Amino acid sequence: MTNAAFPALRLRRTRSTAWSRALVAENRVSPADLIWPLFITEGRAVEEPVAALPGVSRWSVDRIADRAREARDLGIPCIALFPNTPHDKRSQDGREALNPDNLMCRAIRAIKDAAPDIGVLTDVALDPYTAHGHDGIVDESGYVLNDITSALLVDQALVQAAAGSDVIAPSDMMDGRVGAIRSALEREGHVNVQIMAYAAKYASAFYGPFRDAVGSRGLLKGDKKNYQMDPANGEEALREVALDLAEGADSVMVKPGLPYLDIVRRVKDRFEVPVFAYQVSGEYAMIEAAAAAGAGDRDALVMETLMAFKRAGCSGVLTYHAAHAARLMAG
Ligand code: PBG
Repeated sequence: MTNAAFPALRLRRTRSTAWSRALVAENRVSPADLIWPLFITEGRAVEEPVAALPGVSRWSVDRIADRAREARDLGIPCIALFPNTPHDKRSQDGREALNPDNLMCRAIRAIKDAAPDIGVLTDVALDPYTAHGHDGIVDESGYVLNDITSALLVDQALVQAAAGSDVIAPSDMMDGRVGAIRSALEREGHVNVQIMAYAAKYASAFYGPFRDAVGSRGLLKGDKKNYQMDPANGEEALREVALDLAEGADSVMVKPGLPYLDIVRRVKDRFEVPVFAYQVSGEYAMIEAAAAAGAGDRDALVMETLMAFKRAGCSGVLTYHAAHAARLMAG
């Protein structure tokens, strides 16, 4: 086939110099696109490296406040919190999730004291609090019961909002929980507390290192396929997003990230709402392992993946590389 437009059209012309590439760039990544997930643990002045996530640690509440200041100084607008609940506080029904003085709530208050302008996003699900590692209440067969779980998640969300959470992020995939949480927040006067729904969350093999970080991997019985989505399905993700938006979600999330960019793009095209992606623990670990093995340049891999999220239509990305990426962008 001949190209009749050649040589009048040479697409390499605009690529030939750095200044021109900068002018025609269709997307940009900035620290303002990042949400930094952080793990919390008991104690004082504790930094506990997570073996499965090289470069990621669990921090005690006092040290988490330092991370919040660091995020603020780097221009990262929001941090996401995940507790490693002490094992003696985990139970069949995860009731520690409802304790207004649990690790999560103490961390929220410490961050709000240290850096009041930074957004705090808190995960709503029972898995860091249950003895069986599931996100909800299980029956004898191990099935996660929807409606009982949803009622507990409402109370968990209220406890977090009362502690000062800005964004409630239900990651449990129960049906109907976004609407239930929204009406409870309204009733209790938390009208400006947002909901970022983990709307399309897949039952993924990429969550392994996270489960180590919150101490639930060894506890988890079975898998999460009766509530998280089947990686085979795309249409169903659109139905999940439609429902969460109808129930009052302010923004939606697709998770994991890179393997599901097709879902991000379809959600963005269909709904035109803020869409976030979670570049999850296994994705982070893959980049770190590739860099350690000499298979790629760490910084370049990090920045290219973030750009891919923006190009796919993301408003922002939850990534364990957030502080590192923000530092790279600061030059
Ligand atoms: C828990 C939750 C998980 C993640 C975020 N919230 C794990 C799971 O569903 O088992 C995964 C995050 C990551 O892998 O980085 N509801």
